[in-house]
Amino acid sequence: MDVSTKFLVSFVTFLLFIFSRAQRSNSTNKNSIELGSSIVAGTNSSWKSPFGDFAFGFYPLVSTHYLVGIWFDKIPQKTLVWSANRGDPARIGSTNNFTVKGQFLLQHVNRTSVLIDNEFRFTDTILPGQTLNMGQMLFSNANGTQDYSTGQYKLEVQKSDGNIVISAFRFADPGYWDSKTNSNTSVRLIFNNKTSFLYAVNGTHNIFNMTTEVPNPVENYYHRATINDRGNFQQLIYLKEGGKDWTVIWQAITQPCTVNAICGVYGFCTSPDNSTVNCSCLPGYTSFDPNSLSKGCYPSVAVDFCAANANSSASNFTVEQIQNADIPNNIFFDLQRIDSSDLDSCSKEVMNDCFCMAAVLIDSVCYKKRTPLLNARISIPETSNRVTLIKVPQVLQEDKNDSPSRVVLIVEGQHVPYLLLCLQLLLSIIIQHFVIS
Ligand SMILES: *[C@@H]1O[C@H](CO)[C@@H](O)[C@H](O)[C@H]1NC(C)=O
Ligand SMILES: *[C@@H]1O[C@H](CO)[C@@H](O)[C@H](O)[C@H]1NC(C)=O
Ligand SMILES: *[C@@H]1O[C@H](CO)[C@@H](O)[C@H](O)[C@H]1NC(C)=O
Ligand SMILES: *[C@@H]1O[C@H](CO)[C@@H](O)[C@H](O)[C@H]1NC(C)=O
Ligand SMILES: *[C@@H]1O[C@H](CO)[C@@H](O)[C@H](O)[C@H]1NC(C)=O
Ligand SMILES: *[C@@H]1O[C@H](CO)[C@@H](O)[C@H](O)[C@H]1NC(C)=O
Ligand SMILES: *[C@@H]1O[C@H](CO)[C@@H](O)[C@H](O)[C@H]1NC(C)=O
Ligand SMILES: *[C@@H]1O[C@H](CO)[C@@H](O)[C@H](O)[C@H]1NC(C)=O
Ligand SMILES: *[C@@H]1O[C@H](CO)[C@@H](O)[C@H](O)[C@H]1NC(C)=O
Ligand SMILES: *[C@@H]1O[C@H](CO)[C@@H](O)[C@H](O)[C@H]1NC(C)=O
Ligand SMILES: *[C@@H]1O[C@H](CO)[C@@H](O)[C@H](O)[C@H]1NC(C)=O
Ligand SMILES: *[C@@H]1O[C@H](CO)[C@@H](O)[C@H](O)[C@H]1NC(C)=O
Repeated sequence: MDVSTKFLVSFVTFLLFIFSRAQRSNSTNKNSIELGSSIVAGTNSSWKSPFGDFAFGFYPLVSTHYLVGIWFDKIPQKTLVWSANRGDPARIGSTNNFTVKGQFLLQHVNRTSVLIDNEFRFTDTILPGQTLNMGQMLFSNANGTQDYSTGQYKLEVQKSDGNIVISAFRFADPGYWDSKTNSNTSVRLIFNNKTSFLYAVNGTHNIFNMTTEVPNPVENYYHRATINDRGNFQQLIYLKEGGKDWTVIWQAITQPCTVNAICGVYGFCTSPDNSTVNCSCLPGYTSFDPNSLSKGCYPSVAVDFCAANANSSASNFTVEQIQNADIPNNIFFDLQRIDSSDLDSCSKEVMNDCFCMAAVLIDSVCYKKRTPLLNARISIPETSNRVTLIKVPQVLQEDKNDSPSRVVLIVEGQHVPYLLLCLQLLLSIIIQHFVIS
């Protein structure tokens, strides 16, 4: 396998990195990739790295399509670490040709062939020996081992300032975790192949440590660092002999609800144990897909609070309170900030401002929020003692003497008569979790 210098920062270099020992030891080694050879999706054929730890080939998906990728081949999970076509899986019978020119060509069935990008791009994982330079990034998968296409989260060593930032990039999110290494130059995120430590350096100094401890000897483990579909950047190990699964040894996020947009627009995040994520909808909102609450929620009923006849009369809605909850965002994204406020006056602000659907009271400051609402959460201790206030339409009033927290929502016009009774019951249960009145 002869590689000329023009591929220096290329995909082939990355492959050489994984397959390096084959190249060094013996060029006629059976494990190296022969010029002019090819493999076919669906035949289980792949090119293996020298000791068989990694394979490069067609990776089968649950969708019965294939990704051209590299995976840990000796473990039952066959964990994928990189793929060339994550958003465009190939069908059975597609071929991957290593041409005599030293290029990889993906020949889709019944489609024109595509050159596998010479510019190597990481997907969601880095391995020991690799570094992320300024401007380079990792993108999470959409859904674990089910959907490897690009998901919601990005880790980037920012070109602008050297800060390492994790963000929900589809929402123009400024980030929910960072290394605070801004104002440095020549920053690189290193995954050291001797110590298996992850850390950041600038030109001269170690400026940020991630890993604190790795079990010894490190050669007895497989190592990877991955940004997952929950927006967490984690370092994981797998015992080579007799290991059963990946174990997390370091992670950026220790409270899952601090990940921005995790429950989607109008979603509400709680975590009973700092490990599982419980997504629900804010009061007055309904989930798009009850099986996938991260897709977010929409208003259960469309009300024009600013219509002339609405008259901003408080009788059309209530303002619900959620204790110990916040809707944090960058302060410049708020609609308005009112100092020297309290629960009463903050509530009135939400009531009397027809543009405002929510506010959060922190100490004596009332932050009125822009819509659509994102990042609503309970994440103790950060959100302790904060009160979230949500405007909830009160479309049908049962009885004027009823407690103000009793609300009935209409889900969709035509089913209303049948749903009303059930909804009333259901909502009175749900609302108990949100309302303290
Ligand atoms: C490479 O391997 C072949 C066959 O296994 C062997 O004949 C040859 O001597 C080896 N060459 C080197 C440089 O080790
Ligand atoms: C691929 O390997 C799996 C498991 O080893 C086997 O069940 C399957 O029949 C193989 N498929 C082909 C086309 O060889
Ligand atoms: C790729 O390899 C296969 C099998 O060797 C061959 O049939 C096909 O023509 C090749 N495709 C290209 C574009 O070189
Ligand atoms: C490819 O196209 C041919 C002719 O249009 C068709 O007969 C064949 O079924 C197609 N193959 C696949 C896998 O779709
Ligand atoms: C570790 O990485 C360095 C630089 O990339 C390389 O020279 C060295 O051979 C690697 N060591 C091991 C054990 O892979
Ligand atoms: C570089 O990063 C370190 C570590 O976070 C920080 O203390 C320092 O202020 C940054 N900037 C410079 C110019 O050193
Ligand atoms: C690297 O970090 C050190 C320690 O924070 C700092 O003194 C130095 O100015 C930084 N150098 C560059 C080039 O950012
Ligand atoms: C990171 O850890 C190394 C070794 O333990 C230490 O020398 C270095 O000062 C640490 N860097 C920072 C920024 O704390
Ligand atoms: C989650 O972690 C934080 C910080 O470590 C801690 O204060 C909080 O009590 C934990 N919450 C739960 C539900 O375990
Ligand atoms: C999830 O959160 C909702 C709203 O806070 C709560 O009603 C429900 O009991 C929680 N579910 C679990 C399993 O914790
Ligand atoms: C991820 O895939 C699983 C299994 O197919 C599915 O149950 C789940 O709803 C999916 N999650 C998302 C967020 O789409
Ligand atoms: C608000 O309530 C008033 C009186 O109850 C009613 O006339 C008006 O139509 C309501 N507005 C909306 C937008 O529901």
